[in-house]
Amino acid sequence: MHHIETSSANVTKEDKYKSLLPQLKALISGEDDLVANLANISSALKEIFGFFWVGFYLVKEGQLILGPFQGTVACTRIKHGKGVCGTAWKEKRTIIVPNVDAFPGHIACSSASKSEIVVPIILEKEVIAVLDIDSDLLNDFESTDQYYLEKIAELIVTHS
Ligand code: SME
Repeated sequence: MHHIETSSANVTKEDKYKSLLPQLKALISGEDDLVANLANISSALKEIFGFFWVGFYLVKEGQLILGPFQGTVACTRIKHGKGVCGTAWKEKRTIIVPNVDAFPGHIACSSASKSEIVVPIILEKEVIAVLDIDSDLLNDFESTDQYYLEKIAELIVTHS
């Protein structure tokens, strides 16, 4: 049964993450194909939180190349150290951008995007992909998002 349970409107973001984590674990535990798992994870995150854009960029050929995502058409290739995604890759850490217009070098795939979080997915000390989430609201990401999205990033590497 691969249906993601959506919660009612008056639950907190943390409640949503807490209920989503075991569901994601169950969803990807029987599948070892990375792209298939990233596709379902991007769908689940979009469905539960309604973020403007949720997706993955995969490290390939020395750059980030667009992978599974949910949302509008996006840039396909990002260089090491460029934009929020390339910076999270280079610095091997999560980056929260409360206002994308104030981030030097931000790559605007859509003018609707106002804030962003990028979480690196690290396997044996190397970044293999990044999870990028964009919101059409300013200041939409905080430490709760970072905490749980990093847990999701760990889940991904333990199943790839
Ligand atoms: N804004 C990102 C590029 C990817 S899109 O937002 C989907 C960046 O600066 O890396």
